[in-house]
Amino acid sequence: MKKSRSGGKRKSAGKVFNKYLYYENSVQTPEEHVKIYGNMFREIRKREPMSMREDFCGTFLISCEWAKSHPKRTAMGMDLDPEPVEYGKKNGMKTLTAAQKKRVNIVLQDVCFPTKQKFDVIGAGNFSFNIFHTRAQLKKYFKAAYASLNKDGIFNLELAGGPGFIQTAKEQKSYTVKEIGGRYTYYWDQQSFDPINNHGIFAIHFKTPQGVMHKNCFVYDWRVWSIPELKELMLECGFKDTKVYWEGSDKRGNGTGEYHHTKVGDNAYSWIAFVVGIK
Ligand SMILES: C[S@@+](CC[C@H](N)C(=O)[O-])C[C@H]1O[C@@H](n2cnc3c(N)ncnc32)[C@H](O)[C@@H]1O
Repeated sequence: MKKSRSGGKRKSAGKVFNKYLYYENSVQTPEEHVKIYGNMFREIRKREPMSMREDFCGTFLISCEWAKSHPKRTAMGMDLDPEPVEYGKKNGMKTLTAAQKKRVNIVLQDVCFPTKQKFDVIGAGNFSFNIFHTRAQLKKYFKAAYASLNKDGIFNLELAGGPGFIQTAKEQKSYTVKEIGGRYTYYWDQQSFDPINNHGIFAIHFKTPQGVMHKNCFVYDWRVWSIPELKELMLECGFKDTKVYWEGSDKRGNGTGEYHHTKVGDNAYSWIAFVVGIK
């Protein structure tokens, strides 16, 4: 994410524009992640997961949702950047009760180092682990995640792929959100992809309800990792097994938001999946 000293805020036609407010409303569905992590863990381990670490947590919406989902569940959010974390403390965290707040711990720390506390689930949402450009970096992260899991813990990586994810393209969607005060536009801009090293540049822009364009609010320089690369590396880092959860699709081919364990994926134009490392 692009850093600024403004706490993510810019002036926009006299109104304060905060990129994290727009990002959360356009990109994130924390209730779905909590449901997905719970379903996968129950299916694999036949018990309820209680502790969850949200890696690359940004404004840590999933951690807040995890704490809301069960009176004993605990969450740790981990990010290097204080800016989104501060936003989360002033916003998402405020929606929690005092008892829920006590079960959410946010740390400014590199995910490549193990934590003393161990977890049932460690999750990296929204393709964030693509920030690691080399196998050596990714291996350091996987080893640290392995060491930070309980004996029966699981490690979840959310990734995207397919030709539709690497072609140069711009997608836009409009949303109406009360907090934003009207209909705004979100742009997902796939700017480049180099097949020699699998690096892609992706950016997010927003147009406010007042028509002011804010370009490059978030810019990602990602290596687009493939499922077999991730599975092989997980096994190399000590995970006993791996599973792939693939998104279901409706009659029109649109994603349903439901993920099922499968050994065969369909060659979709663009897809989202979870690769799970089982300790
Ligand atoms: C794409 S944002 C993720 C936001 C949110 N978790 C989501 O799912 O949409 C990526 C975040 O990863 C953080 N980050 C990048 N490298 C990191 C590292 N090595 N350790 C911890 N956080 C890191 C960035 O500061 C940024 O907030």
